[in-house]
Amino acid sequence: MKVIIVEDYDKMSEVAADILAKQITEKPNTVLGLATGSTPIGMYKKLVEYYQNGKLNFSEIKSFNLDEYCGLPKDNVQSYWYFMHDNLFNHINIKSDNVNMFDGEENDAKKACEEYDMAIEKAGGIDLQILGCGHNGHIAFNEPSTEFSKSSHRVELQESTINANKRLFADVSQVPKTSYTMGIKNIMNAKKIVMLVSGEDKALTVHQAFNGPIVSTVPASVLQLHNDFTLVMDKAAASKYVK
Ligand code: GLP
Repeated sequence: MKVIIVEDYDKMSEVAADILAKQITEKPNTVLGLATGSTPIGMYKKLVEYYQNGKLNFSEIKSFNLDEYCGLPKDNVQSYWYFMHDNLFNHINIKSDNVNMFDGEENDAKKACEEYDMAIEKAGGIDLQILGCGHNGHIAFNEPSTEFSKSSHRVELQESTINANKRLFADVSQVPKTSYTMGIKNIMNAKKIVMLVSGEDKALTVHQAFNGPIVSTVPASVLQLHNDFTLVMDKAAASKYVK
């Protein structure tokens, strides 16, 4: 794995946006795997800037998002569909037909997940997957102790994840208890993976995931096995990381 440690959140966002920009320039029909959460927002801002300055063209790009809450309609401001449109898709020239996200309102989990896995396969697989990291080491919504062999599935969110994400809802009772997520297998199948981590509060998670053994109790640790994995983090997140 390659580790890039930068001064702060802004620099992390810039470095990540530049990796994406290089990928899109070299392969204009790149299949992107995209993430939500607070961490990638700065990177999305940069990408919008690059598009507005004429540096990037998303017209042939396909995207697949990692996850979506179950039960939230697309126009709910807390849905990941809304988040992605608000932070990125509404501001660039990606074609709406090329945007893929789980349908949070689909009750048939088998159908929702099989169709998603098939769509990724039909697109030729993910070229570049962007990831954030949960405080408990989760990637997408793959909570601790998820089997590494799983592809897309529906998950029960753990208490710690519900609590971490409640800041974005009116109160904790509004946070959905289940979500659809790509599995670790989908993530590990991506040709290239870039994880962004920022802040002191993730320092222990980074240490456990990347200085420790590969264990399902820390899902992000599996990334140590990927042959093209880059971790971009700020100094605060790297403060417990041993090189
Ligand atoms: C959520 C998302 C993850 C994200 C994580 C960290 O649970 N499902 O994909 O990486 O939170 O979010 P943040 O970047 O806000 O810390």
